[in-house]
Amino acid sequence: ADLQPLNTLAVAARAAHFARVENLEQLREALQFARDRKLPILPLGGGSNIVFTGDYPGLVIHLDMRGLELQKIDGATQVTAAGGENWHRLVMHTVERDLGGLENLALIPGRIGAAPIQNIGAYGVELRDTFCDLQAVHIPTGELHEFSADDCRFGYRDSVFKGPARDQYIITRVRLRLPDDWRARLEYPALKQYLDEHHEGAGELTPVEIARAVIAVRNSKLPNPQEIPNAGSFFKNPVVDAEIYERLKRAHPDLVAFAVGERWKLAAGWLIDRAGWRGRRRDGVGVHDRQALVLVNPGRCAGDRVTGLAREITEDIRNKFGVELEPEPRYYP
Ligand code: EPU
Repeated sequence: ADLQPLNTLAVAARAAHFARVENLEQLREALQFARDRKLPILPLGGGSNIVFTGDYPGLVIHLDMRGLELQKIDGATQVTAAGGENWHRLVMHTVERDLGGLENLALIPGRIGAAPIQNIGAYGVELRDTFCDLQAVHIPTGELHEFSADDCRFGYRDSVFKGPARDQYIITRVRLRLPDDWRARLEYPALKQYLDEHHEGAGELTPVEIARAVIAVRNSKLPNPQEIPNAGSFFKNPVVDAEIYERLKRAHPDLVAFAVGERWKLAAGWLIDRAGWRGRRRDGVGVHDRQALVLVNPGRCAGDRVTGLAREITEDIRNKFGVELEPEPRYYP
């Protein structure tokens, strides 16, 4: 099967075997097929956080389970969504019903089942803030397991599914809890600035109004994958010790960084921008001109071009700032 239409970076690649699954039974059948033939498997949702570095030799399972349910419970609304539902559609479904909690996460690409893996986040909110629990199929046995929020061990762009449980599970259902005593979260600088310019009395904003503002801010910086292939932020923002932060801040007073406990999270976009990469294009790949953290693939090239560029940027940032960048999307195979 051709994987190019199934990844937002539009990297050219093929899968030796391919299955699209719409329910648990089909998923189990696909897993059995792979087990019988000893094939490696790759669960694929929206394909928005993945780089195919070559053809995939095993079975790609395209997860397409649907279902979305809202239920009023004590003091909150519980959202139950199947892993294959589109994340942004879920956000809009809730904010249009005046339910708050997900509005800052509008327009994040991908599916619900992928959201917990990297604890998606934007504009000061993360999935874990409303996460309740999830259900996942254990790949080696086909059993269904439940994960509480604690079990997921969420961190910045991180969870157990990127650590000890990596490649062990396919997330089939996620439950969120949107409390009735919702409070708008408008502290994030880019969002705050937009609202200051476009709204008076920001305290009165409704969830859907905030979602619209988030959409406007994202659209002004992040390329639409349908127009310019990309996988969102290509690097995580590096977290460094105070000592390193202070050294950099002395050398670069306009460095952008946020305190995280005793440590500092540096804006990788700022580092890459300052190193001169923003807007650079070469051999069909490049760095987005309005957000240096995003790599783009307008030439719809093979993945090794993209990862080659990422490696060069990583080396340059190491040489110029002594900081190590880590890619955010996963490389396959
Ligand atoms: N900056 C520059 N030049 C650039 C890009 C950024 O100077 O080319 C500066 C900005 O001016 C700003 C700071 O760096 O002061 C941070 O930039 P921005 O607010 O755009 O956020 P970010 O740290 O680059 C993170 C997430 C995004 C998320 C935004 C908003 C990561 C890796 N990325 O980006 O997530 O949308 O914050 O919350 O944490 C994604 O994960 O795919 C993603 C898009």
